[in-house]
This record gives sequence, C-alpha cells and structure tokens, in this order.
Amino acid sequence: MIAIIDFGSQYTQLIARRIRELGVYAEIFPYSISKEELLNSSKEKVEGIVFSGGPASVLDEDSPKVSLDFVKLFDVPILGICYGMQLLSYLNGGKLEKSLFREYGYTGLRIIEDSILFKGVPREIVVWMSHGDSVVIPPSNFRVTSVTENGIIASLENTNERIYLVQFHPEVYHTQYGKEILSNFVFGVCNATKGWSLERFMKEEEEIIKKKVGNKRVVMAVSGGVDSTVMAVYLSKILGTQLLPIFVNTGLLRLNEENEVIENFRSLGIEVKYVDASDEFLFALKGVKDPEEKRKIIGKKFIEVFFREAGDIEILAQGTLYPDVIETSSVKGPSATIKTHHNRVAEIRKLEKEGKILEPFRFLFKDEVRALGRVLGVPERIINRHPFPGPGLAVRIMGEVTKEKLDILRKADYIFIEELRNDNLYEEVWQAFAVLLSDKAVGVMGDERSYGNVIAIRAVTSVDGMTADWARLPHEFLNRVANRIVREVPGVTRVVYDITSKPPATIEWE
Ligand code: XMP
Repeated sequence: MIAIIDFGSQYTQLIARRIRELGVYAEIFPYSISKEELLNSSKEKVEGIVFSGGPASVLDEDSPKVSLDFVKLFDVPILGICYGMQLLSYLNGGKLEKSLFREYGYTGLRIIEDSILFKGVPREIVVWMSHGDSVVIPPSNFRVTSVTENGIIASLENTNERIYLVQFHPEVYHTQYGKEILSNFVFGVCNATKGWSLERFMKEEEEIIKKKVGNKRVVMAVSGGVDSTVMAVYLSKILGTQLLPIFVNTGLLRLNEENEVIENFRSLGIEVKYVDASDEFLFALKGVKDPEEKRKIIGKKFIEVFFREAGDIEILAQGTLYPDVIETSSVKGPSATIKTHHNRVAEIRKLEKEGKILEPFRFLFKDEVRALGRVLGVPERIINRHPFPGPGLAVRIMGEVTKEKLDILRKADYIFIEELRNDNLYEEVWQAFAVLLSDKAVGVMGDERSYGNVIAIRAVTSVDGMTADWARLPHEFLNRVANRIVREVPGVTRVVYDITSKPPATIEWE
C-alpha cells in the first residue's frame, strides 16, 4: 500500500482515491503519527509514501513538520506534493521563499529534464497549482525536472534517495496527465503491488466481521439510502438472520417512501423491522420553528426510538465512511483526527467503549460503496438515489412542521422528482427537491384571487455536496413542473426556482 501523510490539504482524500483507482491500496495518516503506530494500524505493507499538500507555510515555526528520520525509517520512495514538496526540500537543506505572487489554478508547466515521473507525458502540460511559498534553491543532489510558465520550480528529484517532489497537484482532475504522473510514481518508482480490489478488500473484512460477531445479534438502522442499503445487503450475506435492520418512519419521509423502502428490501431478500413513529416525531416537533432545534429534537427522538426497538444491543453496525473517519485537518493533532460526527451521541459512545460497534465501510469512499452495491446486485435505482437528509422534510418546511404542510410538500416534491425521472434528468443532478415556504403569495384561480402557499424547487449539481451549483434545468421543463404543482397540489399558488449556488447558499433551505 501507499501511505499518505496528511498535512491538511483539501485534496488529501483525492490522493487516496486516485491511487486506489490505480488498483493499489492507499490509506491516510495524520502527520503526527509515529512509525510504530503507522505500521500497527494497517494490515498492508508500506511500499511508498506520499506527503500531501497543506494550508500552512513551512517557513512558519509552528507549521506541521516531521523529522527526516521519520522519512528514512521506512526506506521506501517518497512523493511530496505542494506543501509536501516544500517540507521535504526544507528538510534536505533547500531554500524556500514566500512568492511575490501566488500561483493559483491552471498553470503552464514545461518539463526540462527527463524523469520517470513524466514518462509518457508531453513536454508541456497544464497543471493545477495552489501555493504561496516556492522552492528557490533546491537541496544539493536534487535536480529540477520542470518549471512553470512563471519560472517557478515545479518539480525536483533525487533518484538515489528515491525522493520525488512536485509543486502542483497531480491528484486534482484539472492537472493534465495527473493520473499518469501518480501511476509513474506508484508503479514506476515504488513498484507497488497491483491487485487491491474492493472485492478482495471486503472479502478480508468479512473475516474480521465474522470473528467479531460470533453468534451475536447485529442491529443497524436503515433509511433506504445507498449506504445503509448496501451495508444491509453486505452484512446479511455474511450474517444471515443474525442481522436485524430497523427502519424507523419518522413521518418526515417523502410520498410513499416507507412502502418503497420496505419493498426494496424485500426484493433484496432482506426483512426489515418497520417502526412507524410518525406521530411521536410530529408531536415532539409541535410548535418548534428553529431549524437547529428541529434537528436536535429529531436526532434525539431517533436515538430514543431506535434503542427502544433494538432492545439489548449486542452489536451495532454503523455506515461510517472513510471521509467521516479522516478529518483532513488532522494537522491539528492526532486528537482531532476522528471527527465527532452527529451520530456519536452518548448511547453510541458507550457501545463504542464496550467494543460493540461494527463499521464495515470505515475505509471506503462513497463511490466505492456504490461499486460494492453493484457487485452485490443492488439495483441502480437505489444506488443512484439522491442523498436525503436525516431530518427529512422537516428541514424543507420553513418554520413549524405540521401534517397539512407535510402533505402539501410531499405532493409537490413527488411531481418534481417524477418529472425529472420522466425526462431522464434525475441522474444529471446531485440533489433535487421541493421546499415549502412559510409566507403566502397571491394567485388567481379561475376568476378568484387566492392566497396560497409558495413552493420553491431546488436542483443542484455537485461532486461531494461541499460545493454545489444550481442546475440549469430547461425552461420548458421548469414550466411543466410549475404548472403541474399549482394545478395538482391544493393550496399552492406559486412556484419559484432557486438559482443560488453553494457557497454562498447551502443546499438545504434550513
Ligand atoms: P447543506 O444544506 O449543508 O447540505 O449544503 C449538504 C448536504 O448535507 C445534507 N444535509 C443533511 N444531512 N442531516 C443530514 O443527514 C442534516 O441535518 C443535514 N443538513 C443537510 C444535504 O441534504 C446535502 O446533501
């Protein structure tokens, strides 16, 4: 495997994903990890190390650093990216300076010396840059292999020591031949073992799960979304009837969603325990207008209902994914490396302490979960489902949640999604939904002026939900959706389309 030492770059996870795409296992570790910790925490042999980028400046005294000894201990090739390049240059005696101007974004690069890293890459390419500091004098025994259009050193290497440094980001899609450059390092330099595959990896995970579970009962919550569905299918193949998936209807689901979810599981051969707790949730939300308050109440209620229905828990399976485990800002220190995510409530922390938590997907990225789902025969319709927030429609109704408002929103949302599917637009967008506003607007129905509800429809494109752009849906399409909603949903007089991106807006309205 390739070990990635994280210095806090927003792109660190991309490095791991790109390397895994090459068929080589990659794992991320905080820069503060010791050699022993690193070796103990992974089952694979380290064949190469990548130093990630990071937001700090090596020139600052308190910036994250490792010692040269740490690097040499492994005796494997190293690739330093951006901050990683600067740190390794500095550690080897090179000189850095704050650049007069920041190289940011697309930048021309010219290869001036042959390098194994650039095998199969044209002499001139465009790369993605994001740095303030630059190496101005390379360490002795390092040669410069490329420069940018601004005359800045773009890559360096010391082939004897097997240290390769790049100022640009080969892991970012925008870098031309980025994949080839990473591949040249992984295979050409490290000679890494190809053969990591999701299937093999999950087969190995099976042994760990079997050992941990023995003949105990495993409970998990399912929502019908991709992660919990794929996990339920994966675990039920291993554990059979020892697995108890619980599906809680919060009353905040979309039109007919509960039946669809139960039916989906049935068709996958999995019986779920269905708990209709709609009334309980609605009662708890009575009179509550503040979005965060709503979230808190729903979260608390969910835990209460789930634990009540699960009985004595021997083992709880959770769908934690790799990005939840790795906090990119691990530069803050090892204690900050595990994100306190929303489901780490006291009850779950207690189970964790007792060793009763199972997280079979803790090393997987979302696209890997999807790929696993396909291998396991989960239908595309489920795999490609849009993300749906835990608090459900409660954060899509501005202000207080009531049964009447839920009914209106459900119908409008259903029409929008149905039309998207009809026009093959559903899979073109990351998320699409309707929102019910709290203010009313005037409309004319027949000859009468009416005062009714406003529905906002929102559709966004995104790669990971961190940033998003509003979807440029065809006007004709929007027209049809608006007409249908006003005609078919009693009480709605107006439909608006949300044309803000994230940032500055968020995807959800609350
Ligand atoms: P925002 O609105 O923050 O949403 O741009 C980003 C992504 O997160 C989802 N989201 C939530 N998911 N509980 C969840 O499980 C929540 O409270 C929550 N709020 C937002 C949102 O649907 C989008 O995919």
